[in-house]
Amino acid sequence: MTLKTIKINTKSKSYNIFLGSNILGNLRTFLKRENLRLNKSLLIIDKNIPTNFTKLLIKNFNKRNLFILYFVSNENNKDQRSIEKIHNTLFSKNFNRDDCIVSFGGGILGDVAGFAASTYKRGIKFINIPSTLLSQVDSSIGGKTGINNKFGKNLIGSFYQPDLVISDTKVLKSLPKREIICGYAEILKSCLLDSKKSFKFIDNNLNKILSLDDHYITNAILISCLLKKKVVEKDEKEKNLRKILNLGHTFAHAYEASLSYSKKLNHGEAVIIGLKNSINFSRKLKKVSTKNYQIINNHLSRIKLRPEIYKLIKKIKISKIINFMKSDKKNTSNKINLILLNDFGRIQINYQAKISQLKNFLVEELNKKNLQ
Ligand SMILES: NC(=O)c1ccc[n+]([C@@H]2O[C@H](COP(=O)([O-])OP(=O)(O)OC[C@H]3O[C@@H](n4cnc5c(N)ncnc54)[C@H](O)[C@@H]3O)[C@@H](O)[C@H]2O)c1
Repeated sequence: MTLKTIKINTKSKSYNIFLGSNILGNLRTFLKRENLRLNKSLLIIDKNIPTNFTKLLIKNFNKRNLFILYFVSNENNKDQRSIEKIHNTLFSKNFNRDDCIVSFGGGILGDVAGFAASTYKRGIKFINIPSTLLSQVDSSIGGKTGINNKFGKNLIGSFYQPDLVISDTKVLKSLPKREIICGYAEILKSCLLDSKKSFKFIDNNLNKILSLDDHYITNAILISCLLKKKVVEKDEKEKNLRKILNLGHTFAHAYEASLSYSKKLNHGEAVIIGLKNSINFSRKLKKVSTKNYQIINNHLSRIKLRPEIYKLIKKIKISKIINFMKSDKKNTSNKINLILLNDFGRIQINYQAKISQLKNFLVEELNKKNLQ
């Protein structure tokens, strides 16, 4: 499998994403190519990554200039205490602005390490090595960093582009199945946002992608990266176009929040159901054609979520879901903004649904067998 290079050009920074299988050991080559010199580095590693991968990465560094922290990835640790721990380590080792933080982990660690990098002495170098499918297709692209606090998720943060991203698909092999589905949800969203051709590719090769076959998973990640590149290059700070990336997420976030971000429902599972809702809503308004609706719906029904998920969501009170949707800052008091699909690659970002309309819709949706 050849190495893919995706150049991201934003107003604040240009950088490359290197994507391929078994490329972790080549960090030095990538640094040379990018003209990046590492003085001191703080490598922060997700504790669940198997040691064979971490050893391969560590080999690239000069041991005298390397400091290592291990991180337990969960939403509780995505907080100010972790930032303080990282900053204190950097201060105690006299890190300067041309030194570097390297994150080797999923979306949680990437967001935390990126935020720590953006705020330490107003910004030091940052290299992101995403180790989950979700982080390779989504969170490592676009420069959003952040942490949670007691008022909610991702409420404190910054836009801070990395200097380099390395996505090694080999690292995904140790992920639990649920985490693969989680990343796949964002791949599916990207393909719907992109084009019929992209959708056809994942539709024809769903099983090969989910089983991480090198050629197919790399291409699926590439499609997502290119779509996100196109969007963030036009709208780095989510003023308008970037909102399309929230397709399915208005519903998904409301389910997650209604269940207090329980581990029983992960983000990707919520997004799969949220995408179903958005497509069904789009069809109800006759925005998407019957033919396209059928092929998308058929694809969604091939993604098997655990049966408990459906039971869990069906139990949530509709008023609770609506309240969480209302609390989204984009909404006015009696209308809720939805992102709908008109066609592959054609998205409406500002459909204003009436509360009563949404209530009736959710009653229908949650009564469906397997929410289909
Ligand atoms: N910045 C953005 O643009 C953006 C976009 C989407 C999501 N996010 C954030 O991303 C986070 C979710 O990221 P995630 O889904 O990657 O979750 P995560 O970082 O929690 O990783 C999921 C699980 O996989 C484990 N893990 C990581 N790499 C592994 C590997 N190679 N082998 C085995 N286990 C491994 C982790 O320890 C964790 O238990 C959320 O906090 C969300 O807010 C950010």
